Amino acid sequence: NAEDKLTYVKSKIGEYPDFPKQGILFRDIFGALTDAKACVYLRDLLVEHVKHNHPDVEIIVGLDSRGFLFNLLLATELGISCAPIRKKGKLPGEVASVEYQLEYGSDTFEIQLNAIKPGQKVVIVDDLLATGGSLVAATQLVRKVGGVILECLVVMELSDLKGRAKIDSKVHSLFEY
Ligand code: PRP
Ligand code: ADE
Repeated sequence: NAEDKLTYVKSKIGEYPDFPKQGILFRDIFGALTDAKACVYLRDLLVEHVKHNHPDVEIIVGLDSRGFLFNLLLATELGISCAPIRKKGKLPGEVASVEYQLEYGSDTFEIQLNAIKPGQKVVIVDDLLATGGSLVAATQLVRKVGGVILECLVVMELSDLKGRAKIDSKVHSLFEY
């Protein structure tokens, strides 16, 4: 069942103290993705969540780069399209940009102006919610280009950092630390 799948996936997440900086406990999604059973369980959990809670979703937006592990997966399973939000300078054509801070630095995210059709219903996906800086920037970009956000969906949430409170849309995590 879902509870057992979640417990198994969680048991495979890597933990690396002081990476990439002193004082950060890095939660490594690839610990789960390098395990065949955890991959399948993670797919099942994410797909079931979206099918059950957002049957009307029209496009999945994934965040550079670990969000890309899940946006194509979800989109193909659901039979819908997906689009990337990328770090600056990577996307061709006209883009919207937003600067943001994250747990261990700062960066700029971009989206192509034609990535989303006006009014399209969006689920944003990423591996992890820490301070929320990345997802706040992503929600701003999706709205800038006309998307309607149903939810921000992440695998892991670092609750102590209270990122969820900064995000001006529904947030769902499969599990919390
Ligand atoms: C990580 C992670 C999230 C973000 C969360 O991405 O994949 O996108 O940090 O942190 P926040 O909630 O404090 O904003 P990172 O920028 O390290 O890029 P990567 O996915 O390319 O490794
Ligand atoms: N992104 C931001 N904070 C992180 C953490 N503690 N582990 C993995 N990815 C992160």
